[in-house]
Amino acid sequence: MSVPKVSKICCIGAGYVGGPTCAVIALKCPHIQVTIVDLNQARIDAWNSSDFNLPIYEPGLEDVVRATRGRNLFFSTDVDGAIRAADLIFVSVNTPTKKTGIGAGYAADLNYVEKATRRIAQIATSSKIVVEKSTVPCRTAESMRVILEANSKPDARFDILSNPEFLAEGTAISDLVSPDRVLIGSLQTHEGKEACKALSEIYANWVPQERILTVGLWSSELSKLAANAMLAQRISSINALSAICEATGANIDEVAHAIGKDTRIGPKFLKASVGFGGSCFQKDILNLVYLSESLHLPEVAAYWRQVVEMNEYQKRRFTRHVVDTLFKTITGKRIAVLGFAFKADTGDTRESAAITIIKHFMEEKALVTIYDPQVEHEQIWMDLQEVSPTFTLQQIKRQVQIAPCALDACAEAEAVVIATEWKEFITLDWEAIYEQMSKPAFIFDGRLLVDSAKLAKIGFKVSSIGRGAEVTA
Ligand code: UDX
Ligand code: ADP
Repeated sequence: MSVPKVSKICCIGAGYVGGPTCAVIALKCPHIQVTIVDLNQARIDAWNSSDFNLPIYEPGLEDVVRATRGRNLFFSTDVDGAIRAADLIFVSVNTPTKKTGIGAGYAADLNYVEKATRRIAQIATSSKIVVEKSTVPCRTAESMRVILEANSKPDARFDILSNPEFLAEGTAISDLVSPDRVLIGSLQTHEGKEACKALSEIYANWVPQERILTVGLWSSELSKLAANAMLAQRISSINALSAICEATGANIDEVAHAIGKDTRIGPKFLKASVGFGGSCFQKDILNLVYLSESLHLPEVAAYWRQVVEMNEYQKRRFTRHVVDTLFKTITGKRIAVLGFAFKADTGDTRESAAITIIKHFMEEKALVTIYDPQVEHEQIWMDLQEVSPTFTLQQIKRQVQIAPCALDACAEAEAVVIATEWKEFITLDWEAIYEQMSKPAFIFDGRLLVDSAKLAKIGFKVSSIGRGAEVTA
């Protein structure tokens, strides 16, 4: 058998992973027709919108879609048609943490992956390479293989690959255009290796060969969980140190700078914060915890669980510090929260630290005004309702407002909380904000973003994560 030729790709799932990934493949491979499909009509309509009002905000994405849509990139709800036509299918559907049943709160809900896989098996009439792109627990590819093989038709064989995506939101396009590595896992059979070559050849259109790593299927699946767990572990480590800094008067940025100079540690991912968020870190660590427990490795499970617990602690610690500083009560006090997305340069709010913090503020009966430059208002209301099921939307709206700009959000507030590191917050007219706030005017910088000395000079009482003794009130 020779290396299968890929001229048509189908991507199932037009979300944060499938959309940008396959748009970049279309950009870099004009000879390949790429069709991204989704069951969600509104999402597909947005991808196809004439004014390029795309369903996700990602710097540079619009340019890629403008260059390719209608040329060799198509968005559709015709899942079956795209499956039938494709030589290679990416499965990029969502894999949220299970909310009920076995493994609730830890295990990934593989229902969407299974449904998509069954659909492929049912519809395909010719051989396909099926690529697992969604982050999934180890051995999901094996389940997909069993489903596909049990349902395949004569002349339609399936080869399964694991090709985890390492893009980070906010930098997705540059991560995809020049990835640190592309990882492809396959069965170590002749057919598995040939399928792996076919996918490698697609990436080789723009990724240097030495960055395309080919490994076994299980190693590939585990590597994705491991990469995210290690990255999150660095943040929890620096956040744990930030608590020591605050208690002792050390400066976490100085500590991070000093330790990051050690080439064995390196400077990246050492920014202390109010807590990590995003769709991957927590979910993947909890997956790893579940896997470890299933493998009867309780110490390993406890080790990784602590990374998530430290993150929860950081958010609680931050809220408590706000309450303590505002004279031990925030009841009826106005607090401006700048940023709602889980990080800058994205409109995504999944697991955003802002959600938890605002929930705590609401429980303390504060009045909260939120401003975020990208997050849709509807999304904010949905997130707040989900996190506080005992509050009705009406009750939430009595305590929470969404402002059209940072200046408005801060008007008459007693405190400003920086929850997302949007660059525009650095250059706000802080003098004007100070004028409009109640005095004393507090700033709690949960992202080590603003120049605390400059703000203190204006008159603010500044309190930054990981810096002790700055509040002098
Ligand atoms: C992450 C991984 O980086 C990516 O490789 C994987 O494919 C998906 O998960 P993402 O969640 O999009 O990407 O963003 P990332 O930049 O990793 O940030 C995650 C969270 O950690 C954010 O809330 C961010 O603000 C926070 N963070 C990041 C810190 O608090 N400090 C840091 O030093 C870095
Ligand atoms: P991710 O961040 O992993 O990309 P998203 O939730 O942003 O996750 O996107 C996953 C997409 O997959 C959603 O738009 C969802 O509608 C779509 N999806 C889930 N199951 C199927 C399916 N069986 N067929 C087509 N699309 C699906």
